Amino acid sequence: MEFSGKLFIFLLLPLLFLQISTCDAYANPIYHACSKNFTSDNLIQDSINKTLSSLLAKTPLDSFGISSFGDGFFSIYGLSQCRGNLNVDQCARCITKATEEIRTLCPNSAETRIWYDHCFLHYDTTRFFGEPDTSFTRVFSSGLVAADPITFNYKLMDLVYPMNAMAVGIDKKFSVYVTDVSKNLTLLAMAQCTRDLEELACRQCLDKLSEIFSGYCKYHLDCYVISSSCVLRYGVSDFLNASVSLSPLVFAAGSS
Ligand SMILES: *[C@@H]1O[C@H](CO)[C@@H](O)[C@H](O)[C@H]1NC(C)=O
Ligand SMILES: *[C@@H]1O[C@H](CO)[C@@H](O)[C@H](O)[C@H]1NC(C)=O
Ligand SMILES: *[C@@H]1O[C@H](CO)[C@@H](O)[C@H](O)[C@H]1NC(C)=O
Ligand SMILES: *[C@@H]1O[C@H](CO)[C@@H](O)[C@H](O)[C@H]1NC(C)=O
Repeated sequence: MEFSGKLFIFLLLPLLFLQISTCDAYANPIYHACSKNFTSDNLIQDSINKTLSSLLAKTPLDSFGISSFGDGFFSIYGLSQCRGNLNVDQCARCITKATEEIRTLCPNSAETRIWYDHCFLHYDTTRFFGEPDTSFTRVFSSGLVAADPITFNYKLMDLVYPMNAMAVGIDKKFSVYVTDVSKNLTLLAMAQCTRDLEELACRQCLDKLSEIFSGYCKYHLDCYVISSSCVLRYGVSDFLNASVSLSPLVFAAGSS
């Protein structure tokens, strides 16, 4: 009995890995932005290379990392973070992908940001750590609308405040809330700030995104609002365990 149980697990494992690798939740970035282009500057490229290597080494261990290299005009400040519910391997896979892909997408940019389902990477020539930054705010949605929009919206607005307060108050700057909208509809939501932010800065960022949330996301069954310092997301599917495809709903409030 015990033997066959072990055998079963042994046989099942390769299948599970196969499924995870074919259903790659972060195959494509959700969004990216490049600016401050430079022309063949080895010093700045060297700072970028060192920052990316350092972030790749640091981030998976703690789901968060900041780094900076270079002096004066050639300084680069970088930050990367994984979604708060991921393990070291999941985080490492996403940060690896992000550090590779940013080189392809923004080859000569000294200011870049890239968002995936599982992680976020940002570097710049100015020291942005600790500043709540809601530039590059973008809204993504599944496009499906609730059958009972009033109840749905009421339940959603009811959980946003305690969810944000919880994310603000803990070191992980990440919180998840689940609520039943009706007998057969469960709403899952998450809030996350980058961990360089203090409580006040995190609250300011989430407050700003909550306004966008209640305006643009209204009545949609799934919605994801991203920015440089925090993200808010909700949905009726289990987006924390499985990848859910969303399309841009509207590009809001972005100084791009
Ligand atoms: C930066 O890294 C890229 C990719 O590994 C490499 O091709 C390039 O030579 C490096 N540049 C500098 C200045 O270190
Ligand atoms: C900067 O570089 C990016 C990526 O290579 C490119 O798409 C963009 O057009 C460039 N912007 C300017 C102002 O040159
Ligand atoms: C959920 O319940 C409502 C009302 O009973 C029904 O109209 C709807 O089809 C149900 N949805 C699903 C996914 O079962
Ligand atoms: C994700 O899956 C795990 C394991 O199946 C489960 O324990 C967890 O509750 C799920 N997360 C959510 C948010 O449903």
